[in-house]
Amino acid sequence: MSQRHTEFFPEELQNQLNDRFYYLKQDVYGVDRLFFENAGGSLRLKAAVDSQTKYSAFPDCPERTHSVALDIRNVINLGTEDIRLFLNAKDGSIASSFTASKLMFEIITAIASAKSKGNIVTTAIEHPSSFDACQFAAEQYKHELRVAAADPASGSIPLSNILDLIDAETVLVSVILTSNITGAMHDIKEYAKAIKEKNPDTKIVVDAVQGAPHGVIDVDNWKIDALNIAPYKMFGNRGVGYAYLSNRIASLPHHRLLATDTDNWNVGSPTPAHFAGFTDIINYICHIGGYYKDSTDRRTLIVEGMKRIHKQEQAILYRFINGSPDTLGIKDIPGVTIHFEQANGVSQDLILALTFENMTCSEAVDKYGACNILVYARETSSHYSKRILDAVGLDAIVRVSPIHCHTKEDVDLFLKVTQEIASDAKVEI
Ligand SMILES: Cc1ncc(COP(=O)(O)O)c(C=O)c1O
Repeated sequence: MSQRHTEFFPEELQNQLNDRFYYLKQDVYGVDRLFFENAGGSLRLKAAVDSQTKYSAFPDCPERTHSVALDIRNVINLGTEDIRLFLNAKDGSIASSFTASKLMFEIITAIASAKSKGNIVTTAIEHPSSFDACQFAAEQYKHELRVAAADPASGSIPLSNILDLIDAETVLVSVILTSNITGAMHDIKEYAKAIKEKNPDTKIVVDAVQGAPHGVIDVDNWKIDALNIAPYKMFGNRGVGYAYLSNRIASLPHHRLLATDTDNWNVGSPTPAHFAGFTDIINYICHIGGYYKDSTDRRTLIVEGMKRIHKQEQAILYRFINGSPDTLGIKDIPGVTIHFEQANGVSQDLILALTFENMTCSEAVDKYGACNILVYARETSSHYSKRILDAVGLDAIVRVSPIHCHTKEDVDLFLKVTQEIASDAKVEI
C-alpha cells in the first residue's frame, strides 16, 4: 500500500475540522446522518454561513465613504483577492454572478462571438451548463459543435479524443476538470499544453465546479483562458459563482456597464456577504495548510491545504474500495459494482459510482436513506445526467460523494451498510 493511500489527517486536526461544519454528523432534526451528497452541494462551514449572515444585515452601500462602507468594500476586495489566490489568477479578471452556469454561458458566448463559422469543441461528459452554452453559442454564431467521446471504462475524456477534433478553425475548447458524475479528473495542464500546440489561438475554458473542493487549482500554470467555481460546492453558500478570465478574453465584448473598464465582468453591485463567506473558506483551507506548513504566505498555505485535502480524500477512497482488516471493501462485496475507479487509478476523485445486481439505483438510495446515509441516484431521466450516462454506457448510478472531513469510521459504517444492502439482508446499524 503506497503512503498516498494511508495519509489520513491526524486525529488532532480531524477533531478541529469536525467542529467547523454545520450538520456534519447529524441532520437539522438532530438525527445521526452520513452526508455523502457533497457533489450536490457540500457541507457548510459555520464561519462561511455566519459571516454571510453578519454582512447581509448591513444596509450600507459599499460605494460610499463612511467607515462601515469602507469596511464592507474592504470585505469585497479581500474576498476578490482570495478568489485570485485560490485560483492562482495573476492576471485577467474575476467575474461573479448568481450561478456558475450563468458565468459559463456569458464566457462561452463572448468567446464564440469573436468569430463565426469556425468550430467549438466540447466533451460528452460536460455538465449541461458548459455543454449547452457551447451548443447555444455554436448555433448563434454558426460554428460547428464537435463533441469528444468519453472512455466508458474510466468515465473520462482521453486527450487524443479532444485533439482529433481541433483544427485551425477551433474557436474554443471546453473541458471539465472533474466530472460530477463519474469522478474522473483531467490533467488540465497537460490537456491545455497539447491543445495549444495544435492551435495556439484556441481559447480553453474549464468547468472546475466539481474539482475545486478536492485539489489545487492553478490557472497561471495551466495557461487556460477561463475557469469557474461555485462556493456552495466547496464548503460555502449558494447564491454566487465566480470565474477567472485571462487577459486574452477579458476585454471581448460582453454584458457590461459601459462606463466601467472593458475587462470588468461584474454587472451591478456585488454582494459583500458572498465575498466574506469566500474569505472564510480560504481561511479554513489555510488552517489545514498551516497545520502542516509554517508559512505566512496565503497562496503557499492554500496549496498545502488543498494538497492535504486531496491526500485525505485519496485515503478515504482507498479504504472505500479496499476496506480494512475488519471490513470488506466495495470491490469485494458481492452484488455491487464500482465503476470508473479501477480504470482511473490516481485520476479518480472522491466520487463512487455504484450499481447493484438486485435492485435499481433509486431502490438502493432509499435503502441507504433508511440507514441515515444520504447518497443520490443519477439517472437518465434527469437532463443533468442523461448525456453523460449515455456517454459511459450506463442507465443510472448511485453517486456517493463524501468530503475530506469524513473519517475511517464513516467509511466503515458505509461499507457495513453496503454489504447488507447488497446481500438484501435486514440492515441493522
Ligand atoms: C461540474 C459542474 N459544473 C457546473 C455546475 C453548475 O453549477 P450551478 O448550478 O451552481 O450553476 C455543477 C452543478 O452541479 C457541476 O456539478
